[in-house]
Amino acid sequence: MRSSDESSARRVAVRALPRSRNENAFESETESESEPESETESESEPESETESEPESEPEPESETKSESEPEPESEAEAESDPESSIGREPSAEGGCRLAPMSEVGRRKDEHLELCATDEVSFRGRSTLLEHVRLVHDALPDLSLDEVDLGVELLGKRLRAPLIVAGMTGGTDRAAEVNRALARLAQRRGYGFGVGSQRAMARAQDVTWTYAVRDVAPDVLLLGNLGVVQARAMSTDAIDALVRAIGADALCVHLNPAMELVQPEGDRDFREGTSTLARLVAELPVPVVAKETGCGIGPAAARKLRRAGVRYCDVSGAGGTSWVGVETLRAQGARRALGEALWDWGVPTAPSIVYAAREGLQPIATGGVRTGLDVARALALGAVAAGLARTVYQAWTRGGEPAADALLDAIEQELRAVMVLTGSRTIDALRRAPHVVTGELRDWLALDGDVVSTTPR
Ligand SMILES: Cc1cc2nc3c(=O)[nH]c(=O)nc-3n(C[C@H](O)[C@H](O)[C@H](O)COP(=O)(O)O)c2cc1C
Repeated sequence: MRSSDESSARRVAVRALPRSRNENAFESETESESEPESETESESEPESETESEPESEPEPESETKSESEPEPESEAEAESDPESSIGREPSAEGGCRLAPMSEVGRRKDEHLELCATDEVSFRGRSTLLEHVRLVHDALPDLSLDEVDLGVELLGKRLRAPLIVAGMTGGTDRAAEVNRALARLAQRRGYGFGVGSQRAMARAQDVTWTYAVRDVAPDVLLLGNLGVVQARAMSTDAIDALVRAIGADALCVHLNPAMELVQPEGDRDFREGTSTLARLVAELPVPVVAKETGCGIGPAAARKLRRAGVRYCDVSGAGGTSWVGVETLRAQGARRALGEALWDWGVPTAPSIVYAAREGLQPIATGGVRTGLDVARALALGAVAAGLARTVYQAWTRGGEPAADALLDAIEQELRAVMVLTGSRTIDALRRAPHVVTGELRDWLALDGDVVSTTPR
């Protein structure tokens, strides 16, 4: 998908924009091919696109549905329902054919739309990163210019220890988001993750919505698939998904909480550990075990280590609540369940420590919003930090300039904190002295399965 496809995809996405971005309503169907106006808008003002919330929504599992069969819906739907074409293939003319939105596509758009708001934040739980107090060094003997943010991760060099975490794929809007954010990651020297490739597993014609190598040839690219979907697929089939987009590693997402709340979600989470062990042993690329907002506790970290997993995106509690996202889509008893579990999860800060204690390489995602958050996460043992909704929101609000401004501020703050802790490199920051206070101390007292009276 070359640029003409891109502009076409953009046009489609803009059309699909809800009129009011503040509505959470899932009017994705609004997709209305019938709102001509926005189209024009989009072309003339670059920003509008932005505004246009890319929406295609990804959602980890979302598409899911079948408990027993992991990648259900789409396929079936796709076959039986003429509207099911989740994405559009580029047409010969370089534009994209429009096709009616499938149920899955609609859900994806709903997710993106909801994530453009702050309604889906955790309500009463934070990342607990605020309880990490880095110790000030009044004599750093360093110049700001010497600070080096570079890190090596999954075989690639990043200019800064940051990843735009996996969000989307499978629809026109998804393609727009993926391409814009991948381009941004390429330019800034970050890693970039696509959202769940489940739609691709069901229908190869949506592969283009995940394809970013033409705009991000060097980026550390992370593929994405749910562990429940992976359980039902051969390693060769999964490898084909990875290769199709040229990914450097595969994130296997774990998201039982959101599945349980999602009306069409999975209910059977057996054999997750053995599935991960198989993929680690058989896939030619590294596997990153990834939560989606509920974090990693000591037991999960131990199982990951035993499965041979080395990298773990902890995606902890305190940022985007995917239980919350699904709650807003649910009704009746499931909505009540979601309300009860809205803040469920292990906060990001202790998740990092639990993963590190098992010798995993933790990637700190989940509510990371500032350079200070990144610095605190690294001091707890993370090897990099991931940001999802905050980058997506900045981009929907003001396009690349807004996303750049956010990321510039994060880097600037991170650099300042590095000077103030006397850390010239990220490795040095990872060893920076810090004090752990408050509730985080309580979480860190959990050593294995018991609470220790002498927190480390
Ligand atoms: C719009 C959106 C879609 C997402 N889709 C996926 C997905 O397909 N696969 C996945 O592993 N995580 C997905 N996530 C979860 C993020 O990667 C991340 O783990 C989570 O949102 C916590 O990070 P945050 O607080 O910075 O948003 C999605 C997040 C957002 C905001």
